[in-house]
Amino acid sequence: MKTNLLIVLAAGVFSLSACTNNPEKQSAQNASSDSVSNQVMIPEKSNFQTTIDGKQTDLYVLTNQNDMKVAITNYGGRIVSIIVPDKDGKMVDVNLGYEKVSGYQQANEPYFGALIGRYGNRIGNAQFTLDGKAYKLPANDNGQSLHGGPKGFHAQVWDAKKINDYTLELTYLSKDGEEGYPGNLNVKVVYSLTNDNAIKMDYTATTDKATVVNLTNHAYFNLNGEGNGSINNHVLLINADKFTPVNASLIPTGELKSVKGTPFDFTTPTAIGQRVDADDEQLKFGKGYDHNFALTNSSTELKQAALVSSPQTGITLEVLTTEPGIQFYGGNFLDGKLTDGKGGKKYEHRSGFCLETQHFPDSPNQTSFPSTVLKPGETYSSTTLYKFATKQQ
Ligand code: GLA
Repeated sequence: MKTNLLIVLAAGVFSLSACTNNPEKQSAQNASSDSVSNQVMIPEKSNFQTTIDGKQTDLYVLTNQNDMKVAITNYGGRIVSIIVPDKDGKMVDVNLGYEKVSGYQQANEPYFGALIGRYGNRIGNAQFTLDGKAYKLPANDNGQSLHGGPKGFHAQVWDAKKINDYTLELTYLSKDGEEGYPGNLNVKVVYSLTNDNAIKMDYTATTDKATVVNLTNHAYFNLNGEGNGSINNHVLLINADKFTPVNASLIPTGELKSVKGTPFDFTTPTAIGQRVDADDEQLKFGKGYDHNFALTNSSTELKQAALVSSPQTGITLEVLTTEPGIQFYGGNFLDGKLTDGKGGKKYEHRSGFCLETQHFPDSPNQTSFPSTVLKPGETYSSTTLYKFATKQQ
């Protein structure tokens, strides 16, 4: 029975058409976006207008022809809201976040919506050696370095340029030595909202000294609507036949392990909650899913990495990337204690998930993993799409 349901859902997912191809549906959506505007709203721009580290912060809204909306702040380059229609044409915000910029500045803030750098995920023992020189990083996660350090790119004010209604360009100069990393790194991230309902993120970076770079976005999604319960009923496909097992500090052991016969096999669509509490050492280490999946197609071409759907709302999220890996994090550290969540919401355990496209964690210390070294004269380049659709009623 369960299997049948999954198959039906999977079939539905592959026959998706953009919900707004249908003019009747389109006008229903427009009407509903007005009528429900008191329920789903983009936070006030003024709540994001302040000065942090001597720089102006703001909130920028991207819109496409289908009335999909994405709000982004240049504080940490964070996605604040993603508003898409559900199967009934009702507009839903599927992105966890805060109503005010101050929410994002809290010490226990879990990287909601953030651009992550200079190095996404963990570097073991907060150190690495490059060209014979040892670099020490701030150890902000149980002796390890996590997400570029406490003042990583998620906590920096980016320079913002709104190019048009659907494009925002963010740039940031990470100075030589910042958070322990060598080289002045010039980073550019272009967010564009396409007319097929995708948030496209184009990352580029150049350096004046050899360094390591691994950029990603840390948006937390709940396709039932943010603050609307657990994500364990979502159905997930990950196109990865291997994953990188970790030790108790969540640092990869170096092994590339087959997902076959493990709770990490998402090569066919499976409910997230189906095996999350299975008796499995890797799940114990991660307190659930918090692992890097090695994509079966590891090429730098843009390919589908993952596909998630909510049976409740019919909303689906497809992740496409040029990266070789993706971190599936099931919101295990969310504990309902955060303050200022949108509408006063607290965001309980496993009420959001992240799909962070990336090179593998700890690559600077793991010679068998694809390299994350960037040298002067080279350009780091990475593209990821978060593409939304709605299964027709
Ligand atoms: C990443 C990590 C997790 C956790 C979250 C943020 O996904 O892998 O272990 O640190 O970020 O809370």
